[in-house]
Parts: sequence; C-alpha cells; structure tokens
Amino acid sequence: MKLTMVGTGYVGLVTGVCFSQTGNDVMCLDVDPRKIEKLRQGICPIYEPGLTEMMIANNKAGRLRYTLDKKEAYRDADMIFICVGTPSDERGHTDLKYINAAADDIADMLKDLGPSQKPKVIVMKSTVPVGTTLSVRDRIRAKVGPAIPFKVADNPEFLKEGAAIEDFMKPDRVVVGIEDESVGESFRQLYDPFVRNGHPIYLMDVPSAEMVKYCANNFLATKISFINEMANLCEAYGADIQKVREGMCSDKRIGNAFLYPGLGYGGSCFPKDTLACIMMGDKCGIEAKLSKSVHEVNQRQRDRFFDKIVAHFGGKTGIGGGPAGLQGKKIAFWGIAFKPKTDDIREAPALTLMRKAVSYGATAFGYDPVAGANAREELGPAATIVDDMYDAVKDADALVISTDWDEFKSPDFAKLKKLMKGDVVFDGRNLYRLGQMKDAGFTYYSVGRAVVRHESAHS
Ligand SMILES: NC(=O)c1ccc[n+]([C@@H]2O[C@H](COP(=O)([O-])OP(=O)(O)OC[C@H]3O[C@@H](n4cnc5c(N)ncnc54)[C@H](O)[C@@H]3O)[C@@H](O)[C@H]2O)c1
Repeated sequence: MKLTMVGTGYVGLVTGVCFSQTGNDVMCLDVDPRKIEKLRQGICPIYEPGLTEMMIANNKAGRLRYTLDKKEAYRDADMIFICVGTPSDERGHTDLKYINAAADDIADMLKDLGPSQKPKVIVMKSTVPVGTTLSVRDRIRAKVGPAIPFKVADNPEFLKEGAAIEDFMKPDRVVVGIEDESVGESFRQLYDPFVRNGHPIYLMDVPSAEMVKYCANNFLATKISFINEMANLCEAYGADIQKVREGMCSDKRIGNAFLYPGLGYGGSCFPKDTLACIMMGDKCGIEAKLSKSVHEVNQRQRDRFFDKIVAHFGGKTGIGGGPAGLQGKKIAFWGIAFKPKTDDIREAPALTLMRKAVSYGATAFGYDPVAGANAREELGPAATIVDDMYDAVKDADALVISTDWDEFKSPDFAKLKKLMKGDVVFDGRNLYRLGQMKDAGFTYYSVGRAVVRHESAHS
C-alpha cells in the first residue's frame, strides 16, 4: 500500500518505519525542515532503540521517503495517517491546531485531485478527544463538498517510547474505529504481518476506538498514582513499599506492571490524556473524580519528594518556606528523560525538580545518557548539563536519582562518595537496597521506605 505519515515525531516516524519494514511504500511528511533534513541524511531525530537501523535499511530499499512537500506526500497515498501532536493546557483542553492544519492541507489536496479519485482513507493516529475524528471528517467534507470521495478511521497507537519498535511490530492488539467494512478490510491487510502472533485486530465504531486509548492510558496512570499513594502511607507508618508491593503483586489479579513507586508519571501522554478525560467529563457534566485524583496525586508526588530534599538541608517549602535550606547548594541529577531508553523530556519529573531546586537558590547539574541535548535546549542557563555521570556529582552536596536508567543501577559508590562534597542521595526510583547504602556510608532517601542516615550526616 502507499501510505503517508503526517508528522514524523515519536509516533509518525516509528509507524512509518515499521510499515515500510513490511513492504509498504511510505512517505513521511513533516513541517519541520530540520527534521526532514536529518532524516534524509540517515540521522534519526529521536532516540529510540533499533529505529535508526530500520530507517536506513528501508530508505535504501526505496520504501521509505521523507518530504516537506504536502502535495507530493498526499497525492498518491491510499491511506494518510495523521500523527501530529495533540498537546493540552494544564486544564486538559486539547489543542487541535496541528490536527486541523493537517486536515485542511488534506482537504486542499483532495479538492485538487477532483471527484474521480480512488477514495483515500484518512486515519487518525494521534490521541484525540472522543468525537474529534468525526469532526475532522465533517471539516474536510465542508471544504471539499459532497462529490469528493474519502473515508476516515481512528487507529490509536499504544507504543511505549524506549520499546516502540517491539511494541509496533508485535502489538498486544490493534484497535481500529471505522465507519464502513471496506475500510476494515484495508486495515486487516495492513496489519496482518504484525499480528501473526495471533494477537487480535479489534474493529469498532470510531468513538469507541478513540475512547480505548484514553481508557488504557488513564488506567495505567491510575496504577502509578495508586502505588505512590500507598508508598507515602508506607513512609508514614514505617512499612516498606518494596516488600508491600511484592506481597501485593504476587496476586495474579493484580500483577507487577506499572506498580513501581517513584516520582510519578511524566511524558507526553499520561499527563495530557488523564487531563483530557477530566476535560471530557467536565464538558458532558460527568465529573471524572478518579482521573482528577490520579492527576493530583501524581503532581504532588514530585512536590513531596522535593520537600524531602529541602527538609534535609534544614529548609521549608510552601507558605512561610523559601530558599533557606538549598541556598548555595550544588545538586546533581542523574537522569532527565521522563523514563529510561528515550530522549523525551516532556513533562519529565527531573525538570520540575531541577527548576524548583534552582528557584530555591541551588545550582543544578544534570546528566542523562541520551536526553542531554534536549535538556540543554529546554533548561538553557538554568542548569549545567554534563556528559558524564561522575562529572555531574563533583563537589555536589546531594545526588538525586530522577530516571531509572540501567547505568545508574550499580554505580561505583566509593567513587561517588569521594567525588561528592556531601553524602546524601535522594533516590526517586528506588534503585538501591537500604543496607547497601548504609554500608556505602550515605544518607539515603527513597520512596516508601525508611530513611538511611549516615552517622556524621546532617539530619
Ligand atoms: N509519544 C508517544 O509515546 C505516543 C504514544 C501513543 C500515542 N501518541 C500520540 O501520538 C500523537 C503524536 O505524538 P508524538 O509524540 O509523535 O508527537 P511529536 O511532537 O513527537 O511529533 C509530531 C510531529 O508532527 C509534526 N507536524 C505538526 N504539524 C504538522 C503538519 N500540519 N503536517 C506535517 N507534520 C506536522 C511536528 O513537526 C512533529 O514532528 C499525539 O497525539 C500523542 O498523544 C504518542
């Protein structure tokens, strides 16, 4: 099939590359000339394990091309996948400007091609509030008039950054919202190579397909906020969340996934998709109480963690609080990406913590295995981003573990101790055992567990 990806970000590029891998003829369109230039040079603009190799191979084989030219991208496509961003404001209003701009471009092209063309299928792959795909259909119809044929579908994407290729090539399920069965058949053909593992393709109505994506993300976000709330109770009552989660998660009905306490979720999806549910509820008069709490617990988790840092240094946050404790301190951060194996820093807890630390008078030094360049661009002079994890901790009063990258899991503690000025580690990802940190001579704060205090340490 001839396919066009509109937007070559985390979703559009992975989708385009994986569809080309199974033999389709794929055109990737973007409005960002720097991105397209990089792609044409064989440079992947994002960090995603395995993506560069597949991208280069399919481009060489002539099945994967990149363009800034809308006409070239849309003209011959059988299916057009809209993969542009759908950011939201802090109340959950989804900004549909990129979606609408893409829809208008598509409408212009359909009009140019006239009524005798084969109907193209316009597929919403972006995560959009329920009702958006059919509104986009109506928007295009209003522009092109009744005679021009086209169809719409919604095909939400479930890939995880950091494991995107694996997720796309072997999906747990494919969900497609369609208006008529002929479109369903096109999707069966397209996805058949990806579901040889026997996993299902679910065809359903368009609003249900849109809702599946929100339900899935909102549920996963709920699990994370739940375990964080339990971790906070563990701290207050002297229980250990690691032990509690083992005891709880061995129940088959509960399972292990997404039940790790930490700094709360970040990234470009969970925060905005939870907020979008709240907003969808407000719009129809059904208060999304659970989603509101999930969001609130998540945002508070970062603040709670920051309070620990300030309190350790003898300061106070909130009303009557202020810079006292952190003034002049150097704080090192290991990990800036919102999770490991990605360079995505959107809504990353590390950014919140670094900015707060700086606003309290500290200096922030950060290291991330792949997100350093993005962090430099985002934070500017507010923080110093270095290229070596041990360079970040030189003369630091404290170390904060903010992303659970593998390379932070077994550091050289003796070297760390020697390089740091202070001896306190704030571990937002529970990477280390309490006994291990006691033996290594650190004061150690984690999430949902007792504080290990080094004897000579400030308490
Ligand atoms: N990132 C994820 O892990 C993930 C997973 C599942 C679903 N989603 C959803 O997929 C959508 C895209 O997310 P993303 O993370 O890939 O976004 P992104 O910001 O990485 O990429 C969007 C791209 O679209 C381009 N673009 C904007 N307007 C355009 C236009 N009119 N024509 C062509 N290109 C245009 C931008 O330049 C950018 O490169 C969102 O709705 C998101 O919620 C994301």
